[in-house]
Order: sequence, then structure tokens, then C-alpha cells
Amino acid sequence: TADLPLLGKKIVVTAGPTRERIDPVRYISNFSSGKMGYAMAEVAAELGADTVLISGPVDLPKPSGVKLVQVESAAEMLESVLSYYDDASMVIKSAAVADYRPKEQHAQKMKKKDGDSTIELERTTDILKTLGDKKEKQILVGFAAETNDAIGYGKSKLTNKNLDYIIVNDVTDPGGGFGNDTNVVTLLTRKGNQYPFESMQKNELAKVLLKTIIAEEWPNSND
Ligand code: PMT
Repeated sequence: TADLPLLGKKIVVTAGPTRERIDPVRYISNFSSGKMGYAMAEVAAELGADTVLISGPVDLPKPSGVKLVQVESAAEMLESVLSYYDDASMVIKSAAVADYRPKEQHAQKMKKKDGDSTIELERTTDILKTLGDKKEKQILVGFAAETNDAIGYGKSKLTNKNLDYIIVNDVTDPGGGFGNDTNVVTLLTRKGNQYPFESMQKNELAKVLLKTIIAEEWPNSND
């Protein structure tokens, strides 16, 4: 129906940062607040989707109407996303997943020593690429956080990760990015369409992004 164009669809949204532990009291992470992903999940639910929000550690209330699954690390996020993947109509990956984690996780708090120290890092699994490689009917929506040549890098992520849409943020733009209530993005589609959006509140932006994707995918849903 026009009001609930996502009725009957299962949508998985990821949000927030991941934390990669160094020892029991320290970790590597990033400045994602989860606001963008929580807004996407809330709007998906408002538009009728059966919505699961898989979230790294953030300080936000659970959006109404969604199922919230809390995870910590990239490995936990991967496992959780995969468990919902087969039945999903769409996966929206707003999370800022760590690309590296400490190679070794110390069981005890590391003691300080004289002189400098080095932490060796290893790659985490690219969740979105894993989903792209095993994609069947799912619509895959990625985000790209870039500081330069945002559209260029966005386009290559769209192709390399086998996505249908990518939402590109230039995180150096003062009107958007990590932690802000507003964001400035361009939506790129697999078919080659580009939709630039002005700076707006993340919940407003989530509405226009989802409505644009719905119009591209299901033009007859009429909203
Ligand atoms: O949380 P906020 O404070 O509201 O900020 C929002 C945001 C800036 C975090 C968000 O809009 C955003 O851009 N999220 C994606 C950040 C990111 O990790 O971008 P990336 O270009 O490094 O990764 C590209 C895509 O691959 C993303 O969809 C990411 O979820 C995914 N990825 C990355 C690494 C990895 N190991 N697995 C992944 O799935």
C-alpha cells in the first residue's frame, strides 16, 4: 500500500561503530554515534518493514518497532548479519565497521613499560563484501565514509562489493558525518543514477533515502 510500501519485507540495518579489544580495558574504535543507522531502521519500520537493527555499542534508545540486536566487534556483527541474511529483502550497512583489529587480544590488562609500544593489527572480514559475494535476491545498500574523491571511491565500493546502492558521505563536510545530527550524502545506484541531497537531519534524510530506493525498486508502490 502507499503508506506502508515496505509491508511484508524484512530489512536488516547495521549501525554504530565496532569495538576491537586490545585487552579487557582497551579497544580500537571510531566516532560513529549510530544516529544515521538508527534513523534508517526507524524509518524502515515506519514504512512497514519487519526491521532488525544490529548495532555496535552506542548511546541511543531503541527505535520503536524494530528488533534490536547488540554486538561489539566486527566478527560478532558479521555472525549476526549472516544469521538474518537468507530471509532479508534488503540489508542497509550504515555501521562503521573496523577494518583492523589487534592481532592478539590480551587476557590481562597490558602493563606499561618504558619506551614506545606497537600493536600489530590484522584485517577484519569485510561484512558487506561477504554479503555481496553470496547475494541472491537481497537488495544491498552500503555506505561509504570518505574524506576525498568521495564519489569516485563510492563508485568503486558499489562495484567491488556487488551492491545495488551506495550512500556516499564526504565526512569532512561540516554539515554531516560522524556524530552530527545532520548528514550530507549522495545516493549512487547500480544503474548509474546519482541523487545528491542537501544537508538535513539524519531522520529526514533516512526518509528521503528509503523513499528514493523504494521508487527505484518498486515504482508501483506509489509513495
Ligand atoms: O553513526 P553516525 O555518527 O550517525 O555517522 C554515520 C556514518 C558516517 C558512520 C555513516 O553515515 C557511514 O558512512 N557509515 C559507513 C562508515 C564506513 O565504515 O564506511 P567505509 O567506507 O569504511 O565502508 C564501506 C561500507 O562497507 C560500509 O557500508 C561498511 O558498513 C561496510 N564495511 C566496512 C568494513 C568491514 N569490515 N565490513 C563492512 O561491512
